[in-house]
Amino acid sequence: GDSLRALGAHQGLGIGTAVDMAHLGSDRNYTDIVADQFSVVTPENAMKWEAVEPTRGAHDWRPADQLVQFARQHGQSVRGHTLMWHNQLPAWLTTGVDNGTISDPQLREILHRHVTDEVGHFRGQVWQWDVVNEVFANSWDKALPNGLNSEDFWIRHLGEGIVADVFRWAHQADPKALLFYNDYNIAGQDGSNAKFTAVHDYVERLLAQGVPIDGIGEQGHLDTQYGFDPQRFQADLQSYADLGLKVAVTEADVRTFVNNATEQVPTSQLAAFAQPYEFSEMLKACQLVRQCVSFTAWGVYDGDSWIPGTFSGTGYGLLYDVDMRPKPAYFALRKDL
Ligand code: XIL
Repeated sequence: GDSLRALGAHQGLGIGTAVDMAHLGSDRNYTDIVADQFSVVTPENAMKWEAVEPTRGAHDWRPADQLVQFARQHGQSVRGHTLMWHNQLPAWLTTGVDNGTISDPQLREILHRHVTDEVGHFRGQVWQWDVVNEVFANSWDKALPNGLNSEDFWIRHLGEGIVADVFRWAHQADPKALLFYNDYNIAGQDGSNAKFTAVHDYVERLLAQGVPIDGIGEQGHLDTQYGFDPQRFQADLQSYADLGLKVAVTEADVRTFVNNATEQVPTSQLAAFAQPYEFSEMLKACQLVRQCVSFTAWGVYDGDSWIPGTFSGTGYGLLYDVDMRPKPAYFALRKDL
C-alpha cells in the first residue's frame, strides 16, 4: 500500500521521524523504514551540543552529516534539533560554568559561537531548526510563574533577552532556514493550558519586535490517560498560525502504562484504542491547520525509544512494535492521510 510519506506528499504535509544514528545504515530493516515511510528526518541526538562539540573547540559533525547526506539521497527534508536547550550540554561547558572558569559574558559568547558554527555548518541543508527548546515554565508547576522559566539554565545565566538573540544569530547564519520555538504541552492541554497562553503571548511580542521566528513546534509527547484535549490541540495550533507562523508536530509519541497501579483499565485494551486515537487526533489537527507543515514521530519503533528510560512504568509509544512491525497507530495515520 501507500507509504506515509507518499500520502503526506499529496497534501503537502511532511511526515517525519526522529532518527537514531546507532541504527541508521547498520540496521537494514530500520533503515528501510526510515527511507520508505518518512519525508522528514530529525536527528534524535546527533545535532545536540554534547554530540557536535564533545571537546571545546573540536567539532564532530560526522553522525549529523551522515544523516543530512542520507536525507539528500532519499529526497527527505531535515529538522535541525536543537541549538539552545538546558539538556545534553557538553560537560566542558557545564563544568566550566559550575567552577567559575566560564563567566556569564563568556557563556554568551560561547553560545553565539555555537549557534553560528552549527547553523553555518548545515547552511542550506536544514528546512526547520528548533532554535530554542523548552524554556517555558510548566502550567502545573506552582512554584514558577507562567512564562519563561526563570530557573532555566540559559535564562538564569543570560537573561530573558537571550531567546530573541539566539533567533537573530540563527537567522544570520542561515537566512533561508525556518526557525522554530519547540516545547511540550504547549497545545491541547486540558485544564488551565497556561503554558500555551504564555508561549503564544510571548511569541506575539517577539514578532512585534521583528525577531526572526517562523514557527512553533508542539512536541506531542502524550500518554494514553492524561491531559490531552484534541479540540483544543487543533485550536491552539490554529492560534499560533493566526500569528502568521508555521506550526509543526515535532516529537509525537503516545506512551502506554505498563504494570502501573494508576491504570484504570487493562493496559492492552486501553492502549489498543487510546494510542491510535491520540496519534490520529494530532495528525488530523495538523491536517486541518493550513500552516501545519510537518508531523514527526519521536522514533521509529518501540525497541528504540526514550520513553521507558524517562517515564518509569510506561513504554510502547511509537508506530512500530519491538519487532518493527507496524502497529494500529501506524494504520490509523495511514487511514487519515
Ligand atoms: C531525548 C532523546 O530521545 C534521548 O535519546 C536522549 O537521551 C534525551 O533526549 N524533548 C526533546 C528531545 O526535545 O530532544 C528529547 O530527546 C525528548 C524530549
